[in-house]
Amino acid sequence: LGWKNAGKRKRLMDSEGNGLTVVEVNRVHLPPFPIVENNINNYDKFHARGDDVWIVNWPKSGTHWMYEVIKLLMTGREELTDSIKEGTMFPEACAVESLEKLPSPRVLDTHVPLKLFPEEALKKSKIIYTLRNPKDAFVSAYYHMKNDRSVSYEGSWNGFFELSVDENTCLCGSWFDHVADWMEVLENNPNALVVKYEDMKRDLKKEVRRVAEFLGYTKSEEVYENVTKKCSFGHMKKAKKEPKCFWKPGGSMYRKGIVGDWKNHFTVAQNEKFNAIFNEKRNKLRVSVDFEL
Ligand code: A3P
Repeated sequence: LGWKNAGKRKRLMDSEGNGLTVVEVNRVHLPPFPIVENNINNYDKFHARGDDVWIVNWPKSGTHWMYEVIKLLMTGREELTDSIKEGTMFPEACAVESLEKLPSPRVLDTHVPLKLFPEEALKKSKIIYTLRNPKDAFVSAYYHMKNDRSVSYEGSWNGFFELSVDENTCLCGSWFDHVADWMEVLENNPNALVVKYEDMKRDLKKEVRRVAEFLGYTKSEEVYENVTKKCSFGHMKKAKKEPKCFWKPGGSMYRKGIVGDWKNHFTVAQNEKFNAIFNEKRNKLRVSVDFEL
């Protein structure tokens, strides 16, 4: 497997006939980043650095949240990043030359399953895997796909749920495989840290401190306080500017930011169907999943 000659844009159809635009790479459906076709070979040309920090996750699991935590700790700045000038950096979505030009230490993000990740980076670089319970991640992804102009999913939650629980149509090659495969290589890896979205909701300062210690940016209590304050959902929603061309009216990266919104969306039948799949696959995950606080 590799990335060469991959990258076809296609529409996945739900059972109600509504389509979802994705980019297919070796049978994996990735979010259709704006110029992903031009950059799909990036990972073949990618040069990993020892001080790169990767945020890896299945989509909608707290990428932007973790990015701000890391940037504040790394730069010692008091305020959040300006998303327009130095937003999250997905190698699958930008020119490889621009990656090479980024000063060290780079903070890179990816949603790719393990099999598409550059081996060199796995050996050399630091990886923070953010894990969010899949029920909330699916709901969050549904609103993202509805409001993202390049995806323009017109379907219902029911249609999106069916796409998400089927490994042939799920984003990023199934939530279960994403987590199971990544956890297998990250477990016992001193260069890796797993951070749960739900733990960040429970006690953000504690997780900020864990991230700081892992990255070697140990700071004072005062700095941890400031990072916690600036990375609260309320502050991020207010302070972060989002590119207008990205969203349809009403869309936002900072939607609700809670644990358990799935309860407002899953029907009883959907919950039973999901739980049956989850119970069948949970042994492979190597990590516990918190569906509520
Ligand atoms: P919801 O859609 O459930 O609100 P990603 O950055 O990986 O795309 O994840 C986006 C999800 O993380 C969104 O979830 C968003 O609201 C949530 N999020 C972003 N910043 C957050 C914060 N500071 N606190 C809690 N949740 C946050």
